[in-house]
Amino acid sequence: MRRSSRTQTCRVADPGDDVNVEHSAASFLDSHADRADAPGPLMALPNTAPSEEAGATPAAELPGQLPRTSAHDVVMHEGSRSARLREIKLLIDGRLRLGLRATFTRYGLRRDLAVPITNPNAKVPISVRPLEPSDLPILLAENNHLEPQERVQIAWRKDFYKKAPEGCWVAVDERSGTPCYMQWLFGASENPLIRTFGGFPRLEPDEALLENAYTPVACRGLGIMSAAMALIAERAAEIGAQKVLTFVGDDNIGSLKGCQRAGFHPDLLNKRVRLLYGTISSDTFETLPADDPRRTLQF
Ligand SMILES: CC(C)(COP(=O)(O)OP(=O)(O)OC[C@H]1O[C@@H](n2cnc3c(N)ncnc32)[C@H](O)[C@@H]1OP(=O)(O)O)[C@@H](O)C(=O)NCCC(=O)NCCS
Repeated sequence: MRRSSRTQTCRVADPGDDVNVEHSAASFLDSHADRADAPGPLMALPNTAPSEEAGATPAAELPGQLPRTSAHDVVMHEGSRSARLREIKLLIDGRLRLGLRATFTRYGLRRDLAVPITNPNAKVPISVRPLEPSDLPILLAENNHLEPQERVQIAWRKDFYKKAPEGCWVAVDERSGTPCYMQWLFGASENPLIRTFGGFPRLEPDEALLENAYTPVACRGLGIMSAAMALIAERAAEIGAQKVLTFVGDDNIGSLKGCQRAGFHPDLLNKRVRLLYGTISSDTFETLPADDPRRTLQF
């Protein structure tokens, strides 16, 4: 079913409704944080033999083993009270930055799984699997060299995991099994949960939602997002979906490029209005006309 322009969400956050607080922070920063660089001092592990997939970059030209963050650098400790307080401070800072009124435009990009694509390859060999709890400290490791907006990205995903512990997929560097990308996949049966996040349309029975892509800073620029997202999108078929949706800020060019390479094309326009530090949200979702040039934009 095609979506016409309509207001989808307008709600006041309940006390303790930190899903919305964090979504506000992340929504603001999703469009600002994709240029974060300057990875911290990371401990590289020795290379193991890379698997030579058809079409993959030859082993000799592959980047070295994706870095693991050393225990010394990891600031996050599961259950650490001070770490949690730092997270909350970051999330509140993000909300304060929203101010009294903030507006955002996001593309809803769609991939129809019935339309075959040539899956992109990353510069390192990857495969995808569901997230395991032990992946989190690796994917969402903080170190003292990260930009503040990157810390918010991390804090928000840590907290999102608490709200949605199921449905997250990871890509792993096949040479070592090190996770290097994460993203959540939800089917229509998760509509009640998705509704609590705010900012997403109700999924039709044959639709899935792919959200919160994250590549750790040290693993960026290797084509991991596009290769992993293409593979994870295919898993939507296992939960009964034929079409996969994802939402990206119209100025998050890095992510838009990654989505496009993964077979996604702009289909919807989402206007988000956040009032009073994000406590009130309103979303409209408009299907782009068939001849709208944004449908065929090359990001
Ligand atoms: C967006 C993101 C997932 C891309 O991950 P990635 O695995 O580096 O993606 P790719 O290697 O496929 O590169 C896609 C684009 O990202 C951008 N990019 C590449 N290296 C980058 C780096 N070191 N830092 C920031 N952006 C980079 C580039 O625009 C690149 O396109 P190009 O190669 O044509 O220049 C990653 O930057 C990220 O996690 N950002 C923060 C969270 C975020 O914005 N998530 C998306 C929410 S919708």
